[in-house]
Amino acid sequence: MDPMVFTFGEFETEVSFPDSLDSAALAASCPAGSVAVFDTTTHALFGAKAANAVVLPAGEASKGLESVQAVLRRLVESGLGRDATVIGVGGGVVSDMAAFAASVYMRGCSLVLAPTTLLAMVDASLGGKTGIDFAGYKNLVGTFYPASRVVVAASTLASLPGREYLAGLAEVVKTAAIGDAELLGILDGRRSDVMRRDPAVMADVVRRCIAVKGAIVASDLRERGRRAVLNLGHTFAHALESCTGFSTWNHGEAVAWGIKKAVEAGLALGQTDPGFAKRILSILEAYGFRLAAGVPSADLLRAMVMDKKRRNGAIRLVVPKIAGEAVVVHAEESLVSRVLSG
Ligand code: GLY
Repeated sequence: MDPMVFTFGEFETEVSFPDSLDSAALAASCPAGSVAVFDTTTHALFGAKAANAVVLPAGEASKGLESVQAVLRRLVESGLGRDATVIGVGGGVVSDMAAFAASVYMRGCSLVLAPTTLLAMVDASLGGKTGIDFAGYKNLVGTFYPASRVVVAASTLASLPGREYLAGLAEVVKTAAIGDAELLGILDGRRSDVMRRDPAVMADVVRRCIAVKGAIVASDLRERGRRAVLNLGHTFAHALESCTGFSTWNHGEAVAWGIKKAVEAGLALGQTDPGFAKRILSILEAYGFRLAAGVPSADLLRAMVMDKKRRNGAIRLVVPKIAGEAVVVHAEESLVSRVLSG
């Protein structure tokens, strides 16, 4: 498959699609030297030949400054300079830690990301957002720092636990809803192929998501406008994740529920086409996403209002309009409360 190239502000990102992932070959392609960042899971699967590896414990607890320090320390101890490359091999946490470290080491060294989860392939590894959990807040500290190369081997999806795979599919549904009506048709019509991770179908699905996200970020790297549509379902999802202590729902699962709530909000606001709403809700159900929060709506509203305060005053929601199109709206608390109770 041909590579894709995106320009994000002053950055250029090449996305390539090899048949399989070879982290040692990736490191060998960085002549000035590199540090490869894994988590314990991806190191066991893809890191056997990696010479200069930093291995983080798998999981969200690694998304902190300690992980960034470990990468920075290794760069210094390896005697690497500004022409070094940080290679991140893993899911969203590894991508963010590798990218944040690369963004600050000597004010920015080279970054290569090899996403190994569906969520990282279709979202986290592209577009340059890095985020660290800090003082109890998710992604409170971060930078915009797109990778120069993203290496997407869809074959790695075969080793992904089912729950992680479904979580990534939530971001695929989101991407289809905001930017690719044909992808929605694939999710609808080829559900069994998607669920059994058919390599050809998934290579197409991943490529389409990258095309949608790449085009949106190319128009608005720093989220001053259009990029916000990538947050469809996320305002609700963050509230659910925070009310459940970031433990019982993973991010993608919460996003699937959040998309349902965003559709309901869009219907209440008269923004979402009812036929499209029905279609998207039936896709979410067919894929077996958990669609009942099981958390008191008052708690969810409180979390959303706290988030609103941090964002200066309004509950900002992305709501879908028709297949492939979404808008950002500022919603009244009373409407959000009704949607949460529904
Ligand atoms: N994950 C949303 C974004 O990259 O903007």
